[in-house]
Amino acid sequence: MLKRINYISSFVQDMSDDEIEELARQAAKKNAENDITGVLMARGGVFFQIIEGPEENIDRLFTTILKDPRHEKIITLGIQIGDLQRLFLGWNMKAINLDTTLSERLQPVRAIIDAVHAQSAIIETLTEALAASAWAELLDLTTKE
Ligand SMILES: Cc1cc2nc3c(=O)[nH]c(=O)nc-3n(C[C@H](O)[C@H](O)[C@H](O)COP(=O)(O)O)c2cc1C
Repeated sequence: MLKRINYISSFVQDMSDDEIEELARQAAKKNAENDITGVLMARGGVFFQIIEGPEENIDRLFTTILKDPRHEKIITLGIQIGDLQRLFLGWNMKAINLDTTLSERLQPVRAIIDAVHAQSAIIETLTEALAASAWAELLDLTTKE
């Protein structure tokens, strides 16, 4: 049983190319021991990461990642589980800094990450608004029905 998680998060403070490379280098070393593969992209202060591997190992890693003080506003975009084919076979954690990798061929990837980030910011704001304002009214409605 393989599990794959995609998420987006924001840097807590600026990270250099070297710091991102070092983060991915250490991650790759640990991931190799845990049969985990994936990719870590950075773009305009935003991380987009995909991790895939045995369910238990992915759950353990994601719990650790959630607590990492280097990023915040972590939003899970997708979780898949089952008889999956690995997408990143051979990459224990490949870092791609889209701000410093100037290849034109990566332009669509930059655009997608920008769009996902913009959407997730909207979802976050709407969810906060819902949580802050709606409960009393919702409860009121359901008790009257
Ligand atoms: C954006 C981001 C992605 C990360 N990805 C991984 C990863 O794929 N594998 C990993 O072992 N650690 C990853 N880390 C680092 C972990 O959060 C943690 O620092 C590391 O696993 C060391 O944990 P430990 O000190 O408990 O062994 C990532 C951190 C960040 C901020």
